[in-house]
Order: sequence, then C-alpha cells, then structure tokens
Amino acid sequence: MKYSRTIMSLSPSAILRLSAKAKELKKSGRDIVSLTAGQPDFPTPAPIAEAGIKAIQDGKTGYTPCTGIPELKEAVAESYSIRRNIEWKAENVVVSCGAKHDLANLIRSAVNPGDRILLPRPYWVSYPEMVKASGGIPVLPEKGIDPEEILKAADLGAVGLLLNYPSNPSGFVPSDDNMKDIADAIADTDMWVISDDIYEDLVYDEGAAPHILDYRPELSERTAVVSGVSKTYAMTGWRIGYSLANIEWSKLSGILQAHSTSNPCSISQWAALAAVEGKADKEKGEMYLSFRNRRDLICSKLSDVESIQFERPEGAFYVFPRLADETDTARFCSELLEEEGLAVIPGSAFGAEGYIRLSFAASDDDIREGVNRFKRFLRRRYNT
Ligand SMILES: Cc1ncc(COP(=O)(O)O)c(C=O)c1O
Repeated sequence: MKYSRTIMSLSPSAILRLSAKAKELKKSGRDIVSLTAGQPDFPTPAPIAEAGIKAIQDGKTGYTPCTGIPELKEAVAESYSIRRNIEWKAENVVVSCGAKHDLANLIRSAVNPGDRILLPRPYWVSYPEMVKASGGIPVLPEKGIDPEEILKAADLGAVGLLLNYPSNPSGFVPSDDNMKDIADAIADTDMWVISDDIYEDLVYDEGAAPHILDYRPELSERTAVVSGVSKTYAMTGWRIGYSLANIEWSKLSGILQAHSTSNPCSISQWAALAAVEGKADKEKGEMYLSFRNRRDLICSKLSDVESIQFERPEGAFYVFPRLADETDTARFCSELLEEEGLAVIPGSAFGAEGYIRLSFAASDDDIREGVNRFKRFLRRRYNT
C-alpha cells in the first residue's frame, strides 16, 4: 500500500517516545526517575471535577455545537477580552480537544502548500510537524526570537510565525522591551501570528508575560491566541483548549474541526467552564506556588554543576541547560536513562542540539534524586 508522503515525512514525538521508554523500564522493575513530564502532577481540582460529574448526571452527554458550548465560548471571550484588552466575542472562539488541536486547526486553516512559516528556536516539538502536515515549510533561524530574524524571514517570503512565551522547552519570557521590538517588527510585515499562551498563568517572576497584543493591539486582526485549561488547572487528560482569532480564521478552523472530531468532549467542556469561571482559583494558586518553589529547588540544585550553563526559567515548568561538549543529546539522554535511570528530553527535539530539558512538574524528592543522578552521570562522563 502507498501512504501519504507528507505524513511519512513527520517525525514521531521524541517526548512521547522517551516518556514511554521510561515507563516501560519502570514497569520492568528498574528504579527510574522521570523528569520528562509536560503536565502537572496534581489531580484536577475538586470543583472542576464536580462540574464534570454534574454534567454527566444532568445528561449533558450528547454532541455539542462543533466549536463548543456557547457558555464556555462566551466565558473565554469575556475573560480574554479583559486579559488582553481586545474585544473578542463568542464567534472569535473555537474550543477544541486541547490547545494542540487548536494549533493544528489554525495552522491547517492558514497554511498553503509551500508556505514558509517562521519558528523561532527552541520551538515546541509539534510546531514543525504541524506545519509540514499542512504542506508548509518550517523556517528555523539559528538565533532565537529576534526582530531582525522576523524582518529577514518576511523578506524571504515567510507568511506566518509562531510565538510561545513562557516557552516550552526553556521557560523563557521576553522582557517588555524585547516584546515591544518583536511586535513592532511583526507590524512591519504582513505575517500572521499564532501566540501559544498555554503557560500564560505560570510566570514566576514579577508581572505577567508581555504579549504582542499589549504593544500592537491592531495585530489582533491577524493574530490567533491559543490557550487552554491543561497546564493551569491540571486537566491534561480532559482535552480542552481554545483559540481566539478573527472571525474568518475561527470559522475555517471550526469547519475543519466539524469534519474531523466534531465537538470536543461535552463533559470536559462543562468542567472547563468551571475552571474559566474561576471556581478553582484557590487550587490554581496553590499549584502555582508549588511550581514556583520547585523551580527554585531545581535551579539551586543545578547551580553548582560545572559542566552546564542555564538561565533560570521565568515560567512554564522546564529548565533547559546547555551541556558542555555534547553534540548528540539524543544519545546522551539514552545513556543517562540506561546508566542512571534518569529520563530527560534531548534538546534536539526542540531544534536546540546541545541542550536538555528537565521538567520540574515532579515531586521535590524526584527533583532532588533526579539532579543527584544527573550530577553523578556528568562526573563519570567528564572525570570531574
Ligand atoms: C507549548 C505547548 N503548546 C501546546 C501544548 C498542548 O496543550 P494541550 O494539552 O492543551 O493540548 C503543550 C503541551 O505540552 C505545550 O507545551
């Protein structure tokens, strides 16, 4: 049988592969510490879970409108209109099966075969594959996000750009000045933007992450904002994300969704509504504080490791050290897993060879033990 050349050109997710390998080794009895998780290690807060249970008991278990229940779309539009100071209505919102699904819908709706899309490094693993699945060509500049790279890419024909701050994998948040320069550069081009804001509520230093729409609100005409409940409310398995975009883009995204998944799970939508309406703000605050403490813990544990360099992450739940003299981090991570039973993700998965990603969405004990294993491995490797 012949298969799609486009789909055959996609790479499997290195993150899912490594997490699965770590789980398999654990199941076979090995003592494994995994710092690979891209999800909170907390249960979904009770008020949200109860809203889901109530939806089942109330029989809200049939199909819903494809782009989501009006109550959730309105709540998202209202909350994000206040947050970003842009007037969005329910028609601008598409609720999907996770933020990943929103990203895939939006990319598919905007990309034509051969379109060049700028993906600043380090990028989230799925962006290049989503672009390729739509027939587009990822443009991956050597430098990270940089106004000059944006203008250069536009000159070379790039039509769109993905932003993600706080970043997965680095936790990086641009400064206000930096974001203003980025927004100004984008405003000088015709490029559309997708701003993946899934970690927007996990910013540990003062203030929120600056956003291009704070500086250039007029870009909302060609900027789609993507977020969801997965990370902030420990709801990764419920699969609810949402996007806010201009009406045309949202309509196309909705049509695509209608012909692929129909609506996202009805029960999950009612649970997500409880989250968006603030019914679990207390639990959200508690989880946030845990992540901030764990960020401090992992940074202090890593601070005396000689053979790495890292920036203290300002958001999300990842730290992204650069390793001295490593040019094959996939191999490095396999050896680390085999020899020390520690699972982490190679930077190559994010277009940043020479780095590794450690997640601190893990218990304090796992963070301490994980970093101890990492140090022991490095000492042996470099004879220090
Ligand atoms: C940067 C980024 N965007 C989107 C997603 C997808 O989120 P969801 O689980 O809501 O699909 C993730 C999940 O890891 C992520 O890290």
